[in-house]
Amino acid sequence: MAIALAVVLSLQTVAADAILEGERYHPVEATNGMVATSHTLATRLALEVLENGGNAMDAAVTAGFALAVTQPRSGNIGGGGFMLYAPGNGEAVEAIDYREKAPAAATERMFQDDDGNVVPNRSRFTHKAAGVPGTVAGFAMALERHGTLPLKQALAPAIKLAREGFVVPGRFTEGLEQARDRLQRWPASLATFYKDDGSPWQPGERFRQPELADTLQRIADQGIDGFYSGKTAQLIVEEMERHDGLITLDDLKNYQPQIRQPVHGNYRGHDIYSMSPPSSGGTHIVQILNILEGYPLADFGHNSAAGIHYMAEAMKLAYADRAEFLGDTDFVEVPLKGLTSKAYGEALRKTIDPDKARPSSEIRAGNPGAYESPETTHFSIVDRWGNAVSNTYTINFSYGSGITVTGAGFLLNNEMDDFSAKPGEPNAYGLIGGEANRVEPGKRMLSSMSPTIVRRNGRNYLVTGSPGGSRIITTTLQVVLNVIDHNMNIQSAVSVPRIHHQWLPDEIRIEQGVSPDTVRLLEEKGHKVVTGSAMGAIQSILIDSDGTLYGGADPRRSTSSAMGY
Ligand code: DON
Repeated sequence: MAIALAVVLSLQTVAADAILEGERYHPVEATNGMVATSHTLATRLALEVLENGGNAMDAAVTAGFALAVTQPRSGNIGGGGFMLYAPGNGEAVEAIDYREKAPAAATERMFQDDDGNVVPNRSRFTHKAAGVPGTVAGFAMALERHGTLPLKQALAPAIKLAREGFVVPGRFTEGLEQARDRLQRWPASLATFYKDDGSPWQPGERFRQPELADTLQRIADQGIDGFYSGKTAQLIVEEMERHDGLITLDDLKNYQPQIRQPVHGNYRGHDIYSMSPPSSGGTHIVQILNILEGYPLADFGHNSAAGIHYMAEAMKLAYADRAEFLGDTDFVEVPLKGLTSKAYGEALRKTIDPDKARPSSEIRAGNPGAYESPETTHFSIVDRWGNAVSNTYTINFSYGSGITVTGAGFLLNNEMDDFSAKPGEPNAYGLIGGEANRVEPGKRMLSSMSPTIVRRNGRNYLVTGSPGGSRIITTTLQVVLNVIDHNMNIQSAVSVPRIHHQWLPDEIRIEQGVSPDTVRLLEEKGHKVVTGSAMGAIQSILIDSDGTLYGGADPRRSTSSAMGY
């Protein structure tokens, strides 16, 4: 169960827009600050920062580094991500892109054999799978621009957790059991994450990471140079040289995060801000919302056959465009204006048949990846001034490449798999990519991560985002729809069953909880419906018009928690 704690509850105030009484799911309620992350320890530490007068960015960077310790399968310093910052005073929303980059020695065909066939595991479980990490530079930049704490202080709780250890929850042990083969191939991963006898740390036991503590301490002492040059950089490069990897000292020294303009759209009077390329997330959330705006979704009802049909048809169209057009805008032109325009949404809407599913398989055959335990992590934070941070970061798969940098105690990402290894070939999430997302030196691989902030009447209203690979876009979309169209409180919006379509494979994937007669009606329209495991872990905050904060942690992750004060 998700832990839902409110340090201070003010039950007297039933805010105007909050639907609370008579509901099955209740958000955490508070007035001064709210944190929702996928790990209770990170939530608590970030909340402490807010309580001590820090702002949302101070809390965000503290949480980000803490998650790198407590949730090594996705919290990271060896990966990258995206952050949206929306000031409480209504000033412009800013996006910070700290996505990994391809090393300078990367080549278009590096994941193909001599005959031009893709060698899938090369982009997933080798040293070549790792992009140049961006997290440390991204957090440092975010803190410098919008925080008040020195980097050292934001790192201090993470260093303490790494050095003194923390008591592991059941989910931690389960994760290490599942990833045993992948991690234990590498002596440094075995030594870092397992006991001397090779077994994982058990729930209730204290897990310490002394090498990671030293690495974090070097960052605290030297700033980003403590990661991108000096001993840590040396350890990364030695790791690469031992195993035919590509990342060099120059790649590390040259890594720079970027400030980007977020994608902006408008949906039923709300301003939607989400991540721009090199993520595809914001573009397609806005595109799908533009298509759906023409349908009375509220009248159809949540997860009705009609509602799911239109969502699935819109999702298919967006994911087909994703495969064709999306890539790193520092390298390729992406027709962003067109993709996110109302007119294009309208044109696409006209192609949707109300009664029949349009088969996508005739456009291009998909080959969904069999890999099914992906992991990324999102957190949302709002402070007493109404400033909001929405952050999603990842090392791609659960535990990334499985490769720990020997001597440095952290896992390397396998984000290079998010490039298209060959045009038309699916990646681990079954996503097809084209020329726009081919591997090029220094380029950022396409992402689906979609940290999102919705404003209403110019004020921050909804702060949200999720892990889930290709499903991130549709997960985030549905929370926006659940709040705006279906009028749900934030905990309901986060908890109710979700659906997903990504064009290829041509199927609607649903979570348990969608009724069998809805499924039958969808099948009658020609949809293939597949019930799968839970999708995403969306950590969200809603700010009511009277300023009350509501936190909704996703129960799909047992360690998720929202806390406010
Ligand atoms: O950037 C992306 O879209 C993927 N690397 C994200 C991976 C992911 O979300 C795995 N999580 N559950």
